[in-house]
Amino acid sequence: MENIYISGTGYWKADEIVTNDELVASFNSYVERFNNENKLEIEAGAIKPLGLSSVEFIEKASGIKTRYLIDKKNCLDIDVMKPVLRQESSENISILAEMSVHAAKEALNQAGIEAKDVDAVILGTSHSARNYPAVACEVMDELGIEGYGYDMLIGCSSTTFAISNAYSDIASGLANTVLVINPELTSPHNDFTLRDSHFIFGDACVASVIQKNSTSEHRVKILDRKLVTKFSSNIRSDFGYLNVVEENPRDQKDLFFKQNGKSVFKEVCPMVANLITDQLQAANLEASDISQFWLHQANSNMCRFIMTKILGTSDYDPKMAPMILGDFGNVASAGSLLSFHLNNHLEKGDKGIICSFGAGYSICSLIIEKE
Ligand SMILES: CC(C)(COP(=O)(O)OP(=O)(O)OC[C@H]1O[C@@H](n2cnc3c(N)ncnc32)[C@H](O)[C@@H]1OP(=O)(O)O)[C@@H](O)C(=O)NCCC(=O)NCCS
Repeated sequence: MENIYISGTGYWKADEIVTNDELVASFNSYVERFNNENKLEIEAGAIKPLGLSSVEFIEKASGIKTRYLIDKKNCLDIDVMKPVLRQESSENISILAEMSVHAAKEALNQAGIEAKDVDAVILGTSHSARNYPAVACEVMDELGIEGYGYDMLIGCSSTTFAISNAYSDIASGLANTVLVINPELTSPHNDFTLRDSHFIFGDACVASVIQKNSTSEHRVKILDRKLVTKFSSNIRSDFGYLNVVEENPRDQKDLFFKQNGKSVFKEVCPMVANLITDQLQAANLEASDISQFWLHQANSNMCRFIMTKILGTSDYDPKMAPMILGDFGNVASAGSLLSFHLNNHLEKGDKGIICSFGAGYSICSLIIEKE
């Protein structure tokens, strides 16, 4: 079979950086006002007071220091606490398509190809902006791409699963060149009033060109793919088209991202470490044959746990498992590829692993090699 490559990557991030100090100051003002306004009920034991957030907790528990948000002002305004975005309509390009086009242009440029060379667009994301028409079709129209395109959802593994689909389409002869795009506008699904998770997410988008016969100097060959899913409601979003017809209409807050973070940590880390270990074994490779790991960027402690389990030691060069989480926060499925895009130091013959994990649960690990 011919070689199949990731021949170029690109990204988009929101313009405005938000520090933990800024986020915690806003959150704590919200909490103090809530507790003051509900003082009597709290004293009577009818309502629990809200707890304060802290920069120290966020940095220790997650590793996140800053994130980029599409609407900083409103996310920090304690009367709003969410982004306020223009209404989507058929008259204008959609927000997800706009982010996608930006990232796609950079990926096409790195791959050294033009939009007319692309046969298909696969858009993978953890949040669908609308049901139809697919945003992939809109992006194709914007960029002048002919062929086929579709959107797909599999939580924080949407990027790697979409790359895997692109690989399969190329291997089966359906396409030669596939553009994969992964817009992750996470702030609209984040409850900025919830202490457990108000700090987690950032807005970003990645794109990659998957093709055979690449001549791009950036190309890396995809050597192997391993995917698994296992149903769990520990990371869940109930937002969907059925919300409008449910018998008991829900509070909007019930439609935001929810997780049982501790259980996710405990259950997903060993699954990921075992999957990568099995994959390496099946490919006749040792962990020491892998120069870099670009892991899903949800939590720096999770990445350290997984690396330690795979390598059998916690004493490894941090450059082996680059973390962009500190700067970008959790950018959902875009995290592992964004880490690869910004920190790929592979030399000729070096191998690396791009691995996502998240809601579903879903895990996808790609072994790549620099030619
Ligand atoms: C979310 C996460 C950072 C929380 O870290 P954690 O160590 O599990 O923290 P916990 O939720 O158990 O909270 C520990 C304590 O800190 C408190 N706390 C929670 N949020 C806080 C905040 N913002 N500021 C200060 N304290 C906080 C809790 O109330 C708890 O206090 P207690 O021990 O008195 O009950 C972590 O569980 C995680 O990242 N899990 C993986 C999630 C993941 O990968 N999700 C995928 C999403 S795509």
